[in-house]
Amino acid sequence: MIDAMPNQLFVEIPFVENPIYEQIIQDIGSHKFSIIDHFFSSETVSHLRKSLFDKHEEDRFKKAAIGNRVNELIIKSIRGDHILWIDEAKTNPAEDLFFDQINDLVAYLNRTCFMGILNKEFHYALYPKGTFYKRHIDTFQNDDRRKLSFVCYLNTEDWKPENGGELVLYLDDNGVETEKIIYPFPGRIVVFESQIIEHEVKPVETERLSITGWFKTR
Ligand code: OGA
Ligand code: MN
Repeated sequence: MIDAMPNQLFVEIPFVENPIYEQIIQDIGSHKFSIIDHFFSSETVSHLRKSLFDKHEEDRFKKAAIGNRVNELIIKSIRGDHILWIDEAKTNPAEDLFFDQINDLVAYLNRTCFMGILNKEFHYALYPKGTFYKRHIDTFQNDDRRKLSFVCYLNTEDWKPENGGELVLYLDDNGVETEKIIYPFPGRIVVFESQIIEHEVKPVETERLSITGWFKTR
């Protein structure tokens, strides 16, 4: 027994399956999207919500619409959220909690599914009452690097369906379009294939908070 001890120093740490990540992989494989509740703990969510509010109060958010007035009107008719990109090189402690989990997930996806996720980008989003994001797809015409879209919701624990702001995924069920309605409950994440799934955010009745991002290749 004692003889065996030194060898143990060189034993590789065995690969441990993570049931939540496996669920995401299985869901995306079978229907191109995954919804996981309590992916982030309510503590992490409340730290991130505070971070969002702090930055919003510092007036660092931009309307997701910039440009000339005409442009602004057009964009306002498409989306009304205010966003702030997160710089992973300048994170605060709340964002560190966020990226710890994100980077763990990305490492797992790359290791188990060879997804080749090399880049990622995230922004906070605040939808004031009355705003929405019309049906769209997350990839730009000349840029197909966005592979997976990721949303996590930072609303308070008392969020109710009547608050609006549902995410609707438009799915293809053997040629028949179906709608998957997803309420933005705190801690919940939604991951879906960026290049395939059309979606929209319904008008919000109560300010709606989230972080949205993309896992990208190359
Ligand atoms: C987006 C988006 C969905 C959501 O920002 O592109 O579609 O539920 N967000 O916030
Ligand atoms: Mn989108």
